[in-house]
Amino acid sequence: MQIRHFTPEDYDEAYALWEKTPGMNLGSLNNTYAGIKSVVDHNPTLCFAAIDNDGAIIGTILGGTDGRKGYLYHTAIADGHRGQHIGTTLIHKVLAEFKQQEIEKIGLFTTNDNVDGRAFWEHLGFKQRTDITYLDIDLDQS
Ligand SMILES: CC(C)(COP(=O)(O)OP(=O)(O)OC[C@H]1O[C@@H](n2cnc3c(N)ncnc32)[C@H](O)[C@@H]1OP(=O)(O)O)[C@@H](O)C(=O)NCCC(=O)NCCS
Repeated sequence: MQIRHFTPEDYDEAYALWEKTPGMNLGSLNNTYAGIKSVVDHNPTLCFAAIDNDGAIIGTILGGTDGRKGYLYHTAIADGHRGQHIGTTLIHKVLAEFKQQEIEKIGLFTTNDNVDGRAFWEHLGFKQRTDITYLDIDLDQS
């Protein structure tokens, strides 16, 4: 297994993995090629893929930042490769890069029904915020 930066060329293979992975919530943001390429182009050092010995993508994580806070997206490990600390390795790669950029507050969103996903993040030390209500607007629809 090897970890390398995620590139826009990984999109099709990664999307196929995300479609098979529970909790990805692909409908909530722009997950088209253009949308993901934009994330990667803005955050080239914060996006990673895990590759197996045959060159297939078996894990992804996309990090993004507004220059002050960091966000994690699309943490997914292929079924059959879970439980081997590949997810943790990817996360530590992104967190180390955030630290390098002096960004120390890192957040992520999970849907309320993603009980397993939340348990995983809590296991890694992330804490659920109960003092915040998240609001957004879709400028395409307003
Ligand atoms: C969640 C996910 C990314 C974890 O990746 P992984 O490579 O299987 O996890 P790791 O092997 O790195 O596990 C790291 C630690 O978390 C623990 N863990 C894994 N899944 C867990 C869960 N659902 N709840 C609690 N702890 C969990 C492991 O036991 C391990 O503990 P240890 O370090 O004390 O041994 C992977 O299972 C996955 O893709 N799930 C579906 C998508 C998802 O839910 N993504 C995250 C939410 S947005």
